[in-house]
Amino acid sequence: MKKFILFVDDEPSVLQGLQRSLRGKRNEWDMEFVDSGEQALKRVNEKKFDVIVTDMLMPAMNGAELLEKVAADHPELVRIILSGHSDEEMIIRSAGTAHQFLAKPCDANTLKDTLNRAFALKSFLNEDKLRAFVTGMTTLPSIPQTYQHIMNMLASREASLYEIGDLISTDPAMTAKILQLVNSAFFGLGRHISDSKEAAALLGLDVLKALVLSVGIFSQFDQQKVKDVVFSLDALLNHSLMVARLAERIAQAEGVGKAMADDCFLAGILHDIGILILEQNFSEDYVKVRALVEEQGMELCLAEQQVLGTTHGAVGAYLLGLWSLANPVVEAVAFHHQPILSSSEQFSPLSAVHVADVLVHQTGLTGSMFPPEARSVDREFLSRIGMLERLEDWEKLQGQEIKE
Ligand SMILES: [Fe+2]
Ligand SMILES: [Fe+2]
Repeated sequence: MKKFILFVDDEPSVLQGLQRSLRGKRNEWDMEFVDSGEQALKRVNEKKFDVIVTDMLMPAMNGAELLEKVAADHPELVRIILSGHSDEEMIIRSAGTAHQFLAKPCDANTLKDTLNRAFALKSFLNEDKLRAFVTGMTTLPSIPQTYQHIMNMLASREASLYEIGDLISTDPAMTAKILQLVNSAFFGLGRHISDSKEAAALLGLDVLKALVLSVGIFSQFDQQKVKDVVFSLDALLNHSLMVARLAERIAQAEGVGKAMADDCFLAGILHDIGILILEQNFSEDYVKVRALVEEQGMELCLAEQQVLGTTHGAVGAYLLGLWSLANPVVEAVAFHHQPILSSSEQFSPLSAVHVADVLVHQTGLTGSMFPPEARSVDREFLSRIGMLERLEDWEKLQGQEIKE
């Protein structure tokens, strides 16, 4: 089926360049080009598009404002910012309204790859069965309030790390948990941190946001209900942090830049939240899932598929998609057990999280969460994205983690 894509940029030369470089896609994509936010709003109200790709800085209405309006009226539309200003502040401003941020100049292949992956992810998450399954659940975590406040604060004006630390301190339970994590051997900061403003200054915005989001989600689950027989919440959070850090290191080793490395950390820390959701809603079935994994050595996601008809990756990704987390993060969560099912053709948070997750599981350091699964790195996938020869180096990174 043909996809409908709307490009918005106030500079005619940019639109012409896009038109030229994407000409080869004419049979698959129906593309329209407009030069202002007003025009774009008019078009999306007249016609059903699949994706909107917009510039950030435009005279009357900027890209973030445009996407905010589009998100309100047409939430199903995939929203991408293509900006010449790839500074961190711009990326932060567009978070929450855009599904993805791309830096100009963006070569045709990256743009094609990004759009293809967005389409694949969207159809995967919208599979009627999955949507019905998730909306039918009785307990779904809500987006953590403190996280929402931080995102609002960042979107509306420039906020300092100090102010964000201050905001976190208004939530005592969140503060206590974050300080506990930050002071654990895991972060190895070497000194005791006693308040959230200090933690903010030391960790930086992105790690802080990832912690607020994950701690906020985990705290909505009740350890009484999430039976210790299956796993402990702390063990799962620990496992998630280990995967997050290794995924971030893998990204750094590939020299991909801070924004993607941060996405790797975030995707790592969130990759297994679907386990919490499934366990909370289907605790009896989940005992069966565990039995299949333990007694028959079945892979976790295959056991989930057999018993529940879906996987923790799909359910977690669906929820994060609803919360407008960046597409590469949602994609990594969705496919972390079966990356080959994605449309990814290059290194991304998915590759980093998939490999980090398998390597962390192989160490057996994941506590009481699950018995070591019979899983290995998907070599076919790594060779598809041209990264197979990098695996050995990534394994060494994991070796260093254990020694530390
Ligand atoms: Fe998993
Ligand atoms: Fe995992």
